[in-house]
Amino acid sequence: MNLPARFDVLLTGIHLATLEGADWGIVRDGAIAVTGDRIAWAGPESGLPAVPASRRLAFDGAWATPGLVDCHTHLVYAGNRASEFERRLRGATYEEIAREGGGIVSTVRATRAASEDALVEESRPRLAALAGEGATTVEVKSGYGLERTAELKQLAVARRLGAELRVDVRTTLLAAHAVPPEYEGRADAWIDTVCGDIVPAAARSGLADAVDAFCDRIGFTRDQTRRVFEAAREAGLPVKLHAEQLSDQDGAALAAEFGALSADHLEWLSPRGIGAMAAAGTVAVLLPGAYYALRETKLPPVDALRRAGVPIAVSTDCNPGTSPTTSPLLMLNMACTLFRLTPLEAVRGMTCVAAQALRLRDRGVLRAGMRADVAVYAVSEPAELAWRFGGNPCLGTLRGGVPCFAVEP
Ligand code: NIG
Ligand code: FE
Repeated sequence: MNLPARFDVLLTGIHLATLEGADWGIVRDGAIAVTGDRIAWAGPESGLPAVPASRRLAFDGAWATPGLVDCHTHLVYAGNRASEFERRLRGATYEEIAREGGGIVSTVRATRAASEDALVEESRPRLAALAGEGATTVEVKSGYGLERTAELKQLAVARRLGAELRVDVRTTLLAAHAVPPEYEGRADAWIDTVCGDIVPAAARSGLADAVDAFCDRIGFTRDQTRRVFEAAREAGLPVKLHAEQLSDQDGAALAAEFGALSADHLEWLSPRGIGAMAAAGTVAVLLPGAYYALRETKLPPVDALRRAGVPIAVSTDCNPGTSPTTSPLLMLNMACTLFRLTPLEAVRGMTCVAAQALRLRDRGVLRAGMRADVAVYAVSEPAELAWRFGGNPCLGTLRGGVPCFAVEP
């Protein structure tokens, strides 16, 4: 073991849920030592090497997990959709509102009108709330600009907020989210622009880590999605997909064909899609917040995904239309209550499996050499993280080795 002469930060008095292996990886009475942005040592405190530490955080029996990874959000947007919520409660459907030019396009109008600084101000509390419950890595999509400059503006805002709050933000271009008003009735022409102009511009700017699309009745067809994926491949960017959310378009199989990082939502996923995802190693990202808020009744095929060995991630889908939540912990609860994941599956789904969905191999478990992303909770066992809903037991996080605690222990 290569140990440094000093630890920068040392956490003691904590129990660890390392998530090493297939179980919780429980280490009672543990400690974590950090040097720079890496975990230098993790294990039982009794075995802690005799290395001095610059800063010591002594807890009294809290639990540490890998920092949460929220692998699917749309948290950079302006305005809200409360009136659409009221309409849906009176009986209008999400699809009807979208077809009338509301829904995503109404958030596009507000987001285009907001300056970059205003978008930072509106979006900061959302990222801060995710981080406040333990998230240390957050994926953020564009998709509310739907023109080149506004899409890049959203991605730039996401990166700025990540740097400011020390959250590792991963950005995804979602220009194929809806047809912008200027292209009404001309979806193919919009896809031409996405493929010929926006995907290459996003790749050149370095502002996008991946490309996503919305393949559905009110989104884009399979053929249009294929073209977006081809443009992404040409630009050297990995893909992922909003697939089988409202209907089965065989989108997950298409995503798998392109070696997608993940296919997300998946309520209408078919056995064929499951087989293709299993063969390609594409992660299934389940979004219980959207299922709940749209009052869906068709459950994603969790058992079949398990049987096929498809890794299952869980995420907030933080967005103003279908999942206006900033609570990753609530999503752990909903993944169990609504989708029947076990607490262990849910927590793995928002740590190591979510890291896999972003192809980040240096996080998601507590182990020496991994990024020092750690969440600390005032709970008495790790399953409690998924059991409760509506509270926040997070005491704070290490984000890339930097302690972020409201009250330092
Ligand atoms: O993940 N379905 C597509 N995209 C988002 C919703 C976006 C919105 O309604 O603003 C989702 O559910
Ligand atoms: Fe989404």
